[in-house]
Amino acid sequence: MRSIYELMEDAYGLAAIEAGIKQEIWLPKHDPDNPRVLAIRAYWRRLGLLESLPVVNIVAPVVTDLGREIIDLRDLIGYELSMLSLHRDDDLKTTGMAPPALYHQLRKGLGAYFDQYLTSLFATMGLVDMKAQVLELGAGEGALASLFLAVNADSKYVATDRFSTTTEHNVQIHELNFQTINWVEHLKQHNSEPFGLVILSEVLHCKDYPTNRQLLDDIFRLLPVGGQLLIMERYPTKHLAWRLALMSNGGPLQPGDVEGLAGLSGYTKIAWNSVGGSHYATLFQKPKPRITL
Ligand SMILES: C[S@@+](CC[C@H](N)C(=O)[O-])C[C@H]1O[C@@H](n2cnc3c(N)ncnc32)[C@H](O)[C@@H]1O
Repeated sequence: MRSIYELMEDAYGLAAIEAGIKQEIWLPKHDPDNPRVLAIRAYWRRLGLLESLPVVNIVAPVVTDLGREIIDLRDLIGYELSMLSLHRDDDLKTTGMAPPALYHQLRKGLGAYFDQYLTSLFATMGLVDMKAQVLELGAGEGALASLFLAVNADSKYVATDRFSTTTEHNVQIHELNFQTINWVEHLKQHNSEPFGLVILSEVLHCKDYPTNRQLLDDIFRLLPVGGQLLIMERYPTKHLAWRLALMSNGGPLQPGDVEGLAGLSGYTKIAWNSVGGSHYATLFQKPKPRITL
């Protein structure tokens, strides 16, 4: 049976990872006898993030491959740790979103996660070498846009979010709130070419059911017949429902939930795949209208 101390290790492990990254405990700049650094290094070794290798005459701490992956995810780790204290705040008023600075950190952290674990997404879904006009809604920091353009250089990508920014990914994010009434008509008027593909990544789980129903209906109206919709979502985890109940009226979605929602709007499923172990992607199409006699 697991004891409370075993359960607590997960939380302390995350804290040790963050402390190690902040202090760059793998660098030789530290006093070799500093007990705090030595303790964090020991923790990192137990987590498989650091190993000791002989370098010339000394034994130096060297970051493992896993350690390097984890260090690159510093923003995601910082965000999750800040969220822990938010989860402990019983008086928290529902804000509909995390504090803006934290949210920026999340979107940046997700980008690093995508770069590491989800690079095969578009190849896996057969979305490569396309010459299409693509729209992404809720594009965050443009991480997915840059992954898409890396394998679809001839496509035109319009990345939108309720916040407009120019991101580290060199992608311009245009301001578009898909909860405003006439965004579909606005886009139709301002784009002479129809969108052949619309992308939603980690958006549906942030929103409640009626909003998602409306969003998928709106995208259906925007797409031409044969146009595609790619939805990427994260598999539910133990904490996600709690997180989303705290921040919005959304909730984690299983692949079947996404298919059910899309089916109600009239889409046909054409491909499905797991990516990176943590996410799944489903590709839908707007079918030809059925002729009823
Ligand atoms: C969890 S983040 C995912 C960001 C990005 N798609 C990714 O996968 O990294 C959800 C995104 O949806 C955006 N969003 C939420 N509500 C929106 C709305 N009504 N209109 C446009 N964007 C919205 C948020 O600003 C945020 O960037």
